[in-house]
Amino acid sequence: MRENPLLEIKNFSLGLEIDKKVYPVLKNVNFSFFKGKIHAIVGESGCGKTMSVMSVLKLLPRNSRILGGKIIFENENILDFSEKQMLKIRGRKIALIPQDPMTSLNPLYTVENQLLEVIMLHNEVSRDQAKKIAIKTLESVEFKDVKNRIKSYPHELSGGMKQRVIIAMALAANADILIADEPTTALDVTIQAQILKLLMKIKEQGKTIVLITHDLGVVAQYSDDISIMYLGHVVERAATNELFKNPHHPYTKALIEALPVKKGKKLKNIVGQPAPITENITGCPFNPRCAKADYLCFSQIPTLKNVHNSNVACFHPY
Ligand SMILES: Nc1ncnc2c1ncn2[C@@H]1O[C@H](COP(=O)(O)OP(=O)(O)OP(=O)(O)O)[C@@H](O)[C@H]1O
Ligand SMILES: [Mg+2]
Repeated sequence: MRENPLLEIKNFSLGLEIDKKVYPVLKNVNFSFFKGKIHAIVGESGCGKTMSVMSVLKLLPRNSRILGGKIIFENENILDFSEKQMLKIRGRKIALIPQDPMTSLNPLYTVENQLLEVIMLHNEVSRDQAKKIAIKTLESVEFKDVKNRIKSYPHELSGGMKQRVIIAMALAANADILIADEPTTALDVTIQAQILKLLMKIKEQGKTIVLITHDLGVVAQYSDDISIMYLGHVVERAATNELFKNPHHPYTKALIEALPVKKGKKLKNIVGQPAPITENITGCPFNPRCAKADYLCFSQIPTLKNVHNSNVACFHPY
Protein backbone atom coordinates (compact mmCIF):
# COMPACT_ATOMS: atom_id res chain seq x y z
CA MET A 1 0.00 0.00 0.00
CA ARG A 2 1.15 3.48 -0.78
CA GLU A 3 1.23 6.31 1.72
CA ASN A 4 -1.20 9.21 1.38
CA PRO A 5 -0.72 11.49 -1.61
CA LEU A 6 1.16 14.73 -1.00
CA LEU A 7 -1.22 16.61 -3.24
CA GLU A 8 -4.66 15.57 -4.34
CA ILE A 9 -7.15 17.05 -6.78
CA LYS A 10 -10.58 15.66 -5.90
CA ASN A 11 -13.70 15.75 -8.07
CA PHE A 12 -12.59 19.14 -9.33
CA SER A 13 -14.59 20.98 -11.98
CA LEU A 14 -13.67 24.26 -13.63
CA GLY A 15 -15.54 26.38 -16.15
CA LEU A 16 -14.60 29.32 -18.35
CA GLU A 17 -17.03 32.12 -18.92
CA ILE A 18 -17.26 33.13 -22.56
CA ASP A 19 -19.98 35.60 -23.67
CA LYS A 20 -21.84 35.21 -20.35
CA LYS A 21 -21.98 31.42 -20.72
CA VAL A 22 -19.87 29.09 -18.60
CA TYR A 23 -18.24 26.24 -20.54
CA PRO A 24 -16.77 23.36 -18.57
CA VAL A 25 -13.01 22.81 -19.13
CA LEU A 26 -12.28 20.39 -16.29
CA LYS A 27 -14.98 17.87 -15.48
CA ASN A 28 -14.80 16.13 -12.16
CA VAL A 29 -11.07 15.46 -12.44
CA ASN A 30 -9.11 13.42 -9.90
CA PHE A 31 -5.33 13.32 -9.50
CA SER A 32 -3.14 11.94 -6.70
CA PHE A 33 0.47 13.01 -6.58
CA PHE A 34 2.83 11.02 -4.36
CA LYS A 35 6.08 12.05 -2.68
CA GLY A 36 9.21 11.05 -4.55
CA LYS A 37 7.39 10.20 -7.78
CA ILE A 38 7.12 11.70 -11.23
CA HIS A 39 3.49 11.87 -12.27
CA ALA A 40 2.93 12.59 -15.94
CA ILE A 41 -0.24 14.25 -17.20
CA VAL A 42 -0.68 13.37 -20.86
CA GLY A 43 -3.23 14.51 -23.41
CA GLU A 44 -3.79 16.36 -26.67
CA SER A 45 -3.61 20.14 -26.90
CA GLY A 46 -6.56 21.84 -25.20
CA CYS A 47 -7.57 18.88 -22.99
CA GLY A 48 -6.99 20.86 -19.77
CA LYS A 49 -3.49 19.87 -18.61
CA THR A 50 -2.31 23.42 -17.90
CA MET A 51 -5.65 24.40 -16.32
CA SER A 52 -5.38 21.42 -13.94
CA VAL A 53 -1.99 22.47 -12.61
CA MET A 54 -2.74 26.20 -12.64
CA SER A 55 -5.71 25.39 -10.39
CA VAL A 56 -3.26 23.99 -7.85
CA LEU A 57 -1.38 27.29 -7.83
CA LYS A 58 -4.60 29.30 -8.16
CA LEU A 59 -3.17 31.07 -11.17
CA LEU A 60 -6.27 30.90 -13.32
CA PRO A 61 -7.60 33.25 -15.99
CA ARG A 62 -10.05 35.86 -14.76
CA ASN A 63 -12.95 34.31 -16.63
CA SER A 64 -12.50 30.94 -14.90
CA ARG A 65 -15.12 29.65 -12.46
CA ILE A 66 -14.51 26.87 -9.92
CA LEU A 67 -17.59 24.65 -10.16
CA GLY A 68 -16.79 22.10 -7.46
CA GLY A 69 -14.26 19.84 -5.80
CA LYS A 70 -11.23 20.17 -3.57
CA ILE A 71 -7.48 20.48 -3.91
CA ILE A 72 -5.88 19.01 -0.82
CA PHE A 73 -2.30 19.87 0.12
CA GLU A 74 -0.96 19.17 3.63
CA ASN A 75 -4.50 18.30 4.78
CA GLU A 76 -5.93 21.66 3.73
CA ASN A 77 -8.11 22.66 0.82
CA ILE A 78 -6.07 25.10 -1.26
CA LEU A 79 -9.29 26.35 -2.84
CA ASP A 80 -10.19 27.98 0.50
CA PHE A 81 -6.87 29.84 0.68
CA SER A 82 -6.61 33.61 0.40
CA GLU A 83 -4.18 35.22 -2.03
CA LYS A 84 -1.91 35.95 0.95
CA GLN A 85 -1.84 32.26 1.92
CA MET A 86 -1.19 31.31 -1.71
CA LEU A 87 1.93 33.49 -1.75
CA LYS A 88 3.37 31.19 0.91
CA ILE A 89 2.75 28.18 -1.30
CA ARG A 90 3.67 29.38 -4.78
CA GLY A 91 7.38 28.95 -5.41
CA ARG A 92 8.03 27.98 -1.79
CA LYS A 93 6.15 24.71 -1.57
CA ILE A 94 4.93 24.22 -5.11
CA ALA A 95 7.10 25.59 -7.91
CA LEU A 96 6.26 25.92 -11.59
CA ILE A 97 8.69 25.17 -14.39
CA PRO A 98 6.97 26.61 -17.45
CA GLN A 99 7.37 25.77 -21.13
CA ASP A 100 8.92 29.17 -21.81
CA PRO A 101 11.57 29.84 -19.14
CA MET A 102 11.49 33.58 -19.85
CA THR A 103 8.12 33.81 -18.12
CA SER A 104 9.90 32.93 -14.84
CA LEU A 105 13.28 34.59 -15.30
CA ASN A 106 13.86 38.29 -14.91
CA PRO A 107 15.71 39.45 -18.07
CA LEU A 108 17.39 42.26 -16.11
CA TYR A 109 18.96 39.99 -13.45
CA THR A 110 22.06 37.83 -13.76
CA VAL A 111 21.70 34.13 -12.97
CA GLU A 112 23.39 34.80 -9.65
CA ASN A 113 21.01 37.59 -8.68
CA GLN A 114 17.91 35.60 -9.61
CA LEU A 115 19.11 32.84 -7.32
CA LEU A 116 20.27 35.11 -4.52
CA GLU A 117 16.86 36.70 -4.38
CA VAL A 118 15.15 33.33 -3.93
CA ILE A 119 17.74 31.97 -1.50
CA MET A 120 17.67 35.04 0.74
CA LEU A 121 13.89 35.17 0.70
CA HIS A 122 13.56 31.60 1.91
CA ASN A 123 16.60 31.15 4.17
CA GLU A 124 18.10 33.30 6.89
CA VAL A 125 21.59 33.57 5.44
CA SER A 126 24.08 36.29 4.65
CA ARG A 127 24.76 37.31 1.04
CA ASP A 128 28.07 35.43 1.09
CA GLN A 129 26.44 32.26 2.39
CA ALA A 130 23.69 32.68 -0.21
CA LYS A 131 26.32 32.92 -2.96
CA LYS A 132 27.77 29.59 -1.86
CA ILE A 133 24.32 28.00 -1.87
CA ALA A 134 23.68 29.45 -5.36
CA ILE A 135 26.84 27.83 -6.71
CA LYS A 136 26.08 24.48 -5.07
CA THR A 137 22.51 24.49 -6.34
CA LEU A 138 23.59 25.35 -9.89
CA GLU A 139 26.17 22.55 -9.78
CA SER A 140 23.48 20.14 -8.63
CA VAL A 141 21.40 20.91 -11.74
CA GLU A 142 24.49 20.45 -13.94
CA PHE A 143 24.68 24.08 -14.96
CA LYS A 144 27.98 24.16 -16.89
CA ASP A 145 30.95 26.33 -15.98
CA VAL A 146 29.15 27.78 -12.96
CA LYS A 147 31.92 30.11 -11.75
CA ASN A 148 32.04 32.07 -15.01
CA ARG A 149 28.49 31.76 -16.24
CA ILE A 150 26.78 32.66 -12.99
CA LYS A 151 27.22 36.30 -14.08
CA SER A 152 25.30 35.72 -17.35
CA TYR A 153 21.95 37.28 -18.13
CA PRO A 154 19.12 34.96 -19.24
CA HIS A 155 19.39 36.01 -22.91
CA GLU A 156 22.99 34.82 -22.94
CA LEU A 157 21.94 31.27 -22.08
CA SER A 158 20.56 28.44 -24.22
CA GLY A 159 17.00 27.17 -23.58
CA GLY A 160 18.28 24.11 -21.70
CA MET A 161 20.51 26.25 -19.45
CA LYS A 162 17.62 28.62 -18.70
CA GLN A 163 15.48 25.64 -17.64
CA ARG A 164 18.31 24.51 -15.34
CA VAL A 165 18.31 27.95 -13.69
CA ILE A 166 14.54 27.71 -13.08
CA ILE A 167 14.90 24.22 -11.65
CA ALA A 168 17.73 25.52 -9.44
CA MET A 169 15.44 28.32 -8.22
CA ALA A 170 12.74 25.79 -7.27
CA LEU A 171 15.33 23.72 -5.39
CA ALA A 172 16.80 26.80 -3.70
CA ALA A 173 13.33 27.68 -2.42
CA ASN A 174 13.13 24.10 -1.17
CA ALA A 175 9.81 23.48 -2.91
CA ASP A 176 8.35 20.02 -2.27
CA ILE A 177 6.51 19.83 -5.56
CA LEU A 178 7.84 20.84 -8.97
CA ILE A 179 5.23 21.27 -11.67
CA ALA A 180 6.86 21.10 -15.09
CA ASP A 181 4.46 22.23 -17.83
CA GLU A 182 5.94 20.91 -21.10
CA PRO A 183 9.41 21.91 -19.86
CA THR A 184 11.21 20.44 -22.84
CA THR A 185 8.99 21.17 -25.85
CA ALA A 186 11.13 24.13 -26.89
CA LEU A 187 14.36 22.13 -26.56
CA ASP A 188 16.08 19.77 -28.96
CA VAL A 189 15.94 16.03 -28.30
CA THR A 190 19.33 15.62 -26.60
CA ILE A 191 18.79 18.54 -24.24
CA GLN A 192 15.24 17.30 -23.60
CA ALA A 193 16.61 13.95 -22.44
CA GLN A 194 19.15 15.69 -20.19
CA ILE A 195 16.47 17.79 -18.49
CA LEU A 196 14.22 14.74 -18.00
CA LYS A 197 17.15 12.82 -16.50
CA LEU A 198 17.76 15.77 -14.20
CA LEU A 199 14.11 15.68 -13.06
CA MET A 200 14.55 11.98 -12.33
CA LYS A 201 17.61 12.72 -10.21
CA ILE A 202 15.65 15.38 -8.31
CA LYS A 203 12.73 13.04 -7.61
CA GLU A 204 15.15 10.44 -6.31
CA GLN A 205 16.06 13.03 -3.69
CA GLY A 206 12.45 12.95 -2.50
CA LYS A 207 10.77 15.68 -4.53
CA THR A 208 7.40 15.24 -6.17
CA ILE A 209 7.25 16.11 -9.85
CA VAL A 210 4.21 16.72 -12.01
CA LEU A 211 5.28 16.48 -15.63
CA ILE A 212 2.92 17.69 -18.34
CA THR A 213 3.34 16.55 -21.90
CA HIS A 214 1.31 15.84 -25.03
CA ASP A 215 3.78 13.11 -25.98
CA LEU A 216 3.21 9.79 -24.25
CA GLY A 217 6.46 8.47 -25.74
CA VAL A 218 8.51 11.07 -23.85
CA VAL A 219 7.31 10.05 -20.41
CA ALA A 220 7.41 6.27 -20.88
CA GLN A 221 10.88 6.02 -19.36
CA TYR A 222 10.78 9.06 -17.09
CA SER A 223 7.54 8.81 -15.10
CA ASP A 224 6.26 6.57 -12.30
CA ASP A 225 2.56 7.28 -12.76
CA ILE A 226 0.50 8.58 -15.67
CA SER A 227 -2.89 10.28 -15.93
CA ILE A 228 -4.38 10.40 -19.41
CA MET A 229 -6.68 13.35 -20.07
CA TYR A 230 -9.24 13.76 -22.79
CA LEU A 231 -11.40 16.88 -23.21
CA GLY A 232 -11.34 17.96 -19.59
CA HIS A 233 -11.67 14.43 -18.19
CA VAL A 234 -9.13 12.07 -16.66
CA VAL A 235 -9.89 8.91 -18.62
CA GLU A 236 -7.24 6.57 -17.24
CA ARG A 237 -4.61 6.61 -14.53
CA ALA A 238 -2.10 3.97 -13.55
CA ALA A 239 1.52 3.24 -12.80
CA THR A 240 3.51 3.87 -15.99
CA ASN A 241 4.59 0.24 -16.60
CA GLU A 242 1.03 -0.95 -15.96
CA LEU A 243 -0.44 1.62 -18.36
CA PHE A 244 1.87 0.57 -21.18
CA LYS A 245 1.46 -3.14 -20.49
CA ASN A 246 -2.30 -3.16 -20.06
CA PRO A 247 -4.00 -0.04 -21.43
CA HIS A 248 -7.74 -0.27 -20.70
CA HIS A 249 -9.27 2.91 -22.12
CA PRO A 250 -9.73 2.90 -25.92
CA TYR A 251 -8.07 6.34 -26.05
CA THR A 252 -5.00 5.19 -24.08
CA LYS A 253 -4.74 2.13 -26.31
CA ALA A 254 -4.93 4.30 -29.42
CA LEU A 255 -2.28 6.67 -28.06
CA ILE A 256 0.08 3.78 -27.39
CA GLU A 257 -0.56 2.29 -30.81
CA ALA A 258 0.12 5.69 -32.39
CA LEU A 259 3.60 5.89 -30.85
CA PRO A 260 6.31 5.65 -33.48
CA VAL A 261 8.00 2.26 -33.23
CA LYS A 262 10.87 3.29 -35.43
CA LYS A 263 11.89 6.85 -36.10
CA GLY A 264 9.55 8.39 -38.65
CA LYS A 265 7.31 5.35 -38.80
CA LYS A 266 3.86 5.58 -37.28
CA LEU A 267 1.49 2.80 -36.45
CA LYS A 268 -2.26 3.06 -36.48
CA ASN A 269 -3.48 6.53 -35.56
CA ILE A 270 -6.66 7.82 -33.97
CA VAL A 271 -9.35 9.14 -36.27
CA GLY A 272 -10.89 12.55 -35.77
CA GLN A 273 -10.13 15.51 -33.52
CA PRO A 274 -11.21 16.40 -29.98
CA ALA A 275 -14.33 18.57 -29.99
CA PRO A 276 -13.99 22.26 -29.00
CA ILE A 277 -14.99 23.11 -25.40
CA THR A 278 -17.97 25.07 -26.65
CA GLU A 279 -19.45 21.87 -28.12
CA ASN A 280 -21.63 19.92 -25.76
CA ILE A 281 -21.10 16.16 -25.92
CA THR A 282 -23.66 13.93 -24.23
CA GLY A 283 -22.19 10.89 -22.51
CA CYS A 284 -18.56 9.83 -22.75
CA PRO A 285 -16.32 12.60 -24.17
CA PHE A 286 -14.50 10.06 -26.36
CA ASN A 287 -17.70 8.63 -27.93
CA PRO A 288 -17.38 10.48 -31.30
CA ARG A 289 -14.01 8.80 -31.91
CA CYS A 290 -14.57 5.45 -30.23
CA ALA A 291 -15.12 2.18 -32.07
CA LYS A 292 -16.68 0.62 -28.94
CA ALA A 293 -19.25 3.33 -28.23
CA ASP A 294 -22.84 2.13 -27.75
CA TYR A 295 -26.11 3.56 -26.33
CA LEU A 296 -24.67 3.67 -22.80
CA CYS A 297 -21.65 5.69 -23.91
CA PHE A 298 -23.89 8.19 -25.69
CA SER A 299 -26.14 8.68 -22.66
CA GLN A 300 -23.94 8.54 -19.54
CA ILE A 301 -20.56 9.89 -18.51
CA PRO A 302 -18.27 7.15 -17.18
CA THR A 303 -16.34 7.88 -13.96
CA LEU A 304 -13.00 6.38 -12.89
CA LYS A 305 -13.38 2.76 -11.76
CA ASN A 306 -10.82 0.14 -10.80
CA VAL A 307 -9.92 -2.17 -13.65
CA HIS A 308 -7.07 -4.54 -12.64
CA ASN A 309 -4.38 -2.18 -11.37
CA SER A 310 -5.66 0.95 -13.14
CA ASN A 311 -8.43 3.51 -12.78
CA VAL A 312 -10.41 3.79 -15.98
CA ALA A 313 -13.38 5.91 -17.02
CA CYS A 314 -14.94 3.66 -19.64
CA PHE A 315 -18.03 1.46 -19.86
CA HIS A 316 -16.25 -1.00 -22.13
CA PRO A 317 -12.60 -1.12 -21.09
CA TYR A 318 -10.12 -3.48 -22.75
N1 LIG B 1 -8.47 32.37 -20.86
C1 LIG B 1 -9.14 31.46 -21.56
N2 LIG B 1 -10.37 31.73 -22.08
C2 LIG B 1 -11.04 30.83 -22.80
N3 LIG B 1 -10.63 29.58 -23.02
C3 LIG B 1 -9.42 29.21 -22.52
C4 LIG B 1 -8.61 30.11 -21.77
N4 LIG B 1 -7.50 29.46 -21.40
C5 LIG B 1 -7.60 28.20 -21.89
N5 LIG B 1 -8.76 28.04 -22.56
C6 LIG B 1 -9.28 26.78 -23.12
O1 LIG B 1 -9.37 25.84 -22.06
C7 LIG B 1 -9.08 24.53 -22.53
C8 LIG B 1 -8.03 23.90 -21.68
O2 LIG B 1 -6.82 24.61 -21.86
P1 LIG B 1 -5.40 24.15 -21.32
O3 LIG B 1 -4.48 25.29 -21.55
O4 LIG B 1 -5.51 23.64 -19.95
O5 LIG B 1 -5.04 22.93 -22.29
P2 LIG B 1 -3.70 22.09 -22.40
O6 LIG B 1 -4.07 20.66 -22.27
O7 LIG B 1 -2.68 22.63 -21.48
O8 LIG B 1 -3.26 22.34 -23.92
P3 LIG B 1 -1.79 22.54 -24.57
O9 LIG B 1 -1.23 21.16 -24.76
O10 LIG B 1 -2.08 23.19 -25.88
O11 LIG B 1 -0.99 23.40 -23.65
C9 LIG B 1 -8.70 24.70 -23.99
O12 LIG B 1 -9.80 24.36 -24.77
C10 LIG B 1 -8.35 26.16 -24.12
O13 LIG B 1 -8.61 26.61 -25.43
MG1 LIG C 1 -0.85 23.58 -21.70
